[in-house]
Amino acid sequence: MNDELSSRIILALDVDNFKKARYFVDLLYPEVKIFKVGSQLFTACGPQIIEYIHKKGAEVFLDLKYFDIPHTVAAAVYQAGRLKVKMLTLHILGGPTMLKSAVAVAKRQTLLIGVTVLTSQKTGPQEVLKLAKFGLSCGLDGVVCSAQEAALLRRKIRKKFIIVTPGIRPEGYKADDQTRTATAQQAREAGADFIVVGRPILEAKNPQEALRQFK
Ligand code: C5P
Repeated sequence: MNDELSSRIILALDVDNFKKARYFVDLLYPEVKIFKVGSQLFTACGPQIIEYIHKKGAEVFLDLKYFDIPHTVAAAVYQAGRLKVKMLTLHILGGPTMLKSAVAVAKRQTLLIGVTVLTSQKTGPQEVLKLAKFGLSCGLDGVVCSAQEAALLRRKIRKKFIIVTPGIRPEGYKADDQTRTATAQQAREAGADFIVVGRPILEAKNPQEALRQFK
């Protein structure tokens, strides 16, 4: 896999303990350079896994999808900055004060990525566009959206911003609980900067081989 592409695949470490997470990090780094730590794993083992990923030389996408009162979200974003995560998520629906408070305390090296509408939910592209525009106007660095909306966002929002796209499935693979799925190539062609892949790699008999399908 060439270096440019490998740095744009984020592996969702959706496992329930440190040992399993460490197994996937050891197996897939350096082909994967960014690992996503979500609520399951972070609740199970906390910052220990973030430290492990950093020690390995990789980066962390902390996907805790913050959505709370502005003071609480700003405090959480500050703590995430201390953990030196590369990017983190928060819900755009949390509103302007919550988003701006987060932007105000975020460390420069931490990218703030707004969740528009979860890729497991059905929605119209206009709703995603509206949320994305709003989040970016509050100072976010980028948004999460499905590949199905990415092209529209690129067309309608002229400034530079990051698009992170989950719900990625190889051709013919089961959708699981995702509804707005696409292949890695479709997502990239639509304008995604990073694709997030979980189960198609975690559940594969050979995760290293499965990873190659997302080139
Ligand atoms: O297993 P799968 O490839 O469906 O994993 C997708 C990952 O992306 C999950 O960790 C999920 O929490 C995350 N995600 C998502 N939709 C969003 C934001 C994040 O599916 N809007």
